[in-house]
Amino acid sequence: MNFVENAEALVPILGRLQSGSRIAVLTGAGMSAESGLKTFRDSGGLWEQYSIYEVATPEAWQRDPHLVQRFYNERRKQLLDAEPNEAHHALAELEAQFQVDVVTQNVDDLHERAGSSRVLHLHGELRKCRSSVNENLIYEVDGWEVKMGDTCEEGSQLRPHVVWFGEAVPNIEPAAELISEADLLLVIGTSLEVYPAAGLVHAARRGVPVLVIDPAEISIPPASDIWHLRQNAGTGVRELAGILLDRS
Ligand code: OAD
Repeated sequence: MNFVENAEALVPILGRLQSGSRIAVLTGAGMSAESGLKTFRDSGGLWEQYSIYEVATPEAWQRDPHLVQRFYNERRKQLLDAEPNEAHHALAELEAQFQVDVVTQNVDDLHERAGSSRVLHLHGELRKCRSSVNENLIYEVDGWEVKMGDTCEEGSQLRPHVVWFGEAVPNIEPAAELISEADLLLVIGTSLEVYPAAGLVHAARRGVPVLVIDPAEISIPPASDIWHLRQNAGTGVRELAGILLDRS
């Protein structure tokens, strides 16, 4: 792992990219922190306030669906009041010169609202709900609340369209494929503690630089070309985008 203090130090690595190069971006909750949405594992994060086992597992849904529904309704309500931050906007601007694929663990829609056109959600989407029986019946949520008693067209209770711990991550293979085609992998605002998403950093081709933007220390198993810019997403991505768009 190579630590860098500011994005200028990355110029030699970024200089390898050309206009049209492919950039894959793996994002986590830190990407949306500056939009006012809490991360999970930081001090004061959501998993300090709630137990994963009570709100984010299929067993929790079986045991107390009201609590689970309320937890995600609350998240949705906050999301409707949030706006994309400068990191979301700077990533979207990269599309002017590069082919950018965002793979996000976030269930918010802030990448899309900032203008990113290729966004793959690994852990679902908060603004959607789905049948609790037939996973193919997916609906946009009108407003913030899904009520107990709201049903799909087949009459089953609607649940959040999110991936809970213990459930499959259907988009993991398309995500790995996108990352394996990239010329640069950005990893922004994720503790890389949750698998299989965390394993995606290893889908990058050999020799492709992996650039982590996160203020905290991140543990990544050693690989050849990992760089860590220890900054918040807002500053880090803005500086990075400035360099990339200048040079291409
Ligand atoms: P975590 O809460 O585990 O990690 C958040 C990361 O964001 C940490 O590395 C922080 O240092 C970093 N961070 C905090 N503020 C930041 C800022 N302003 N700019 C950049 N980085 C910042 O969140 P995730 O890694 O996204 O899954 O968590 C992964 C998954 O665990 C989530 O998708 C969710 C959660 O449980 C499910 O619910 C299935």
